[in-house]
Amino acid sequence: MKKIIVFASGSGSNAERIISHCQEKKTSEVVRVYTNNPSAKVIERANRLLVPVEIFNREELNDGTIAAKIAQDNPDLIVLAGFLWKFPESIVKSFPNKIINIHPALLPKYGGKGMYGRNVHQAVLDNKEKETGITIHYVNEHYDEGGIIFQKSVTIEDCATAEAIAEKIHVLEHQYFPKVIEKLLLNI
Ligand code: GAR
Repeated sequence: MKKIIVFASGSGSNAERIISHCQEKKTSEVVRVYTNNPSAKVIERANRLLVPVEIFNREELNDGTIAAKIAQDNPDLIVLAGFLWKFPESIVKSFPNKIINIHPALLPKYGGKGMYGRNVHQAVLDNKEKETGITIHYVNEHYDEGGIIFQKSVTIEDCATAEAIAEKIHVLEHQYFPKVIEKLLLNI
């Protein structure tokens, strides 16, 4: 059984889909959810699906405490699913090609610092883009710049608000992220 850990900061709808997918397929398991946000909805979702949760602060992320916990979990894959803090370079270096992130736009467009969640969709709307999409990519030491694993685009000509775009993006994410993870793990 391949082991996955998931980092999330907020709602955790992607984390939930990944956990459920693994529980159905039984070829891999989410062994822990890590969050920096003690009031994140992802905690409730993980509890419901019987996955342990580790809540940490910025100091613990950067002083090696979380790196040691990750090492104990010994994951085959580290998945950032709506994790909004920069991932420490030391952890990135310790787990080469084992950390992936999902970004709610077609990178390299609309990436970088401050580009997360609603901010991304508002920028896409303001630029009158006809389409946007999702990008699943490896994490390196620069925001949103690691190698691209998967992209899928969607038309947004019918979207008048950032929320409408977010809804379409979430549908794509839920549809593809668990499957891309499953496929990646086959080759690890
Ligand atoms: C997702 O849309 C994800 O792509 C985005 O946060 C959302 C989390 O939703 N991530 C980023 O913007 C990272 N830069 P969720 O908590 O419901 O899974």
